[in-house]
Amino acid sequence: MTAAPTCESGLDGVPAAVDAVLEDFLGAKARVTGLPCLPEVARLLKDFLAGGGKRLRPLLCCCGWRAAGGEELAPVLPAAASLELFHTFALIHDDLMDRSDTRRGRPTVHRSLAAGLRGRAHRVDAERFGTNGAVLLGDLAMVWSDELLHTAWPETATPAARPVLERMRSEVMYGQYLDLLAGTRFGGGLDGPLTVIRYKTAKYTVERPLQLGAALAGGGRAVLDACSAYGIPLGEAFQLRDDLLGVFGDPAVTGKPCLDDLREGKYTVLLALAVERADRRQQRVLRDLVGDPGLDERGAGAVRAVLTATGAADRVEGMITARRRQALLALEHSPFPSAVRGTLRRLATTATVRNA
Ligand code: IPE
Ligand code: IPE
Ligand code: MG
Ligand code: MG
Repeated sequence: MTAAPTCESGLDGVPAAVDAVLEDFLGAKARVTGLPCLPEVARLLKDFLAGGGKRLRPLLCCCGWRAAGGEELAPVLPAAASLELFHTFALIHDDLMDRSDTRRGRPTVHRSLAAGLRGRAHRVDAERFGTNGAVLLGDLAMVWSDELLHTAWPETATPAARPVLERMRSEVMYGQYLDLLAGTRFGGGLDGPLTVIRYKTAKYTVERPLQLGAALAGGGRAVLDACSAYGIPLGEAFQLRDDLLGVFGDPAVTGKPCLDDLREGKYTVLLALAVERADRRQQRVLRDLVGDPGLDERGAGAVRAVLTATGAADRVEGMITARRRQALLALEHSPFPSAVRGTLRRLATTATVRNA
């Protein structure tokens, strides 16, 4: 048994307390008898979780709990931890869909499964094994996320949490699907990419985790609405920062590649803004290079130069600032206790002014 989580007063201890819950949960899975593969898959998920991560969603869930008057954090920690497992599912599948090689500075799950098989004597297609294994491991993370939550919070006891979770799950899938579609188009303005970031990230990263915690603490409509008013603009700003880091970031710091979005031709807000302002030469650079699966650092440098020269990167910075301000304003009008407002105020900065 891991030590009982102790973060009764401040929220600083949430990441460690959540990790302790996950450790216990996955440890118990590894000891289940009669299913010989469980220790192996539980270990893979443990390794993924040990690889890092900001634990933003669990922290927000605990903030939501406090925002609705919840006090001692111990009861909400399994719900907070279940969000990290849901996030684990989303990342494992996202890396597969984005064909990413690294996550949190390590090989992605599909790549590491494939590498583990290569060189072994039997004739199995290692890449296919990696892909299929990552699909299953991601599925398992999602299913276990549900199990962890409902063991601690039976659905019948928490009817208010149910719609929050149902929406969150559908929204991510919908957002990710829109993200796939966006990769097939070039042009068409900002509405499309803004919808993508709202659904694929803002809701499951900020709005719904806050609402889940608040709903479990018995928060009413006013509290849940305030979670949205703060959470949606902040969540969008979070993904806008991610889009900038995805092109201009240092992979040694982000732990993620910085060519994927460009090679994939992902039609992000950043790219949409550049297309809007690009002159003919710049348009040609974007059309020729963005979406080229063989794009190298030199080509990426040419694209980055256009993203900067057209003012697109600065405009994204401006959008981040505007959304952070909107979130902070909503916070001032919220019915949250002042200590929670303080934490969320600080979090608005750490979520949007970051290099990883
Ligand atoms: C990455 O989320 C995926 C997005 C929604 C942008 P995080 O930036 O929260 O990832 P970790 O958990 O800290 O690695
Ligand atoms: C991640 O989107 C969104 C989800 C995991 C649902 P991205 O593909 O833009 O994020 P990173 O850069 O891989 O983390
Ligand atoms: Mg990705
Ligand atoms: Mg993606």
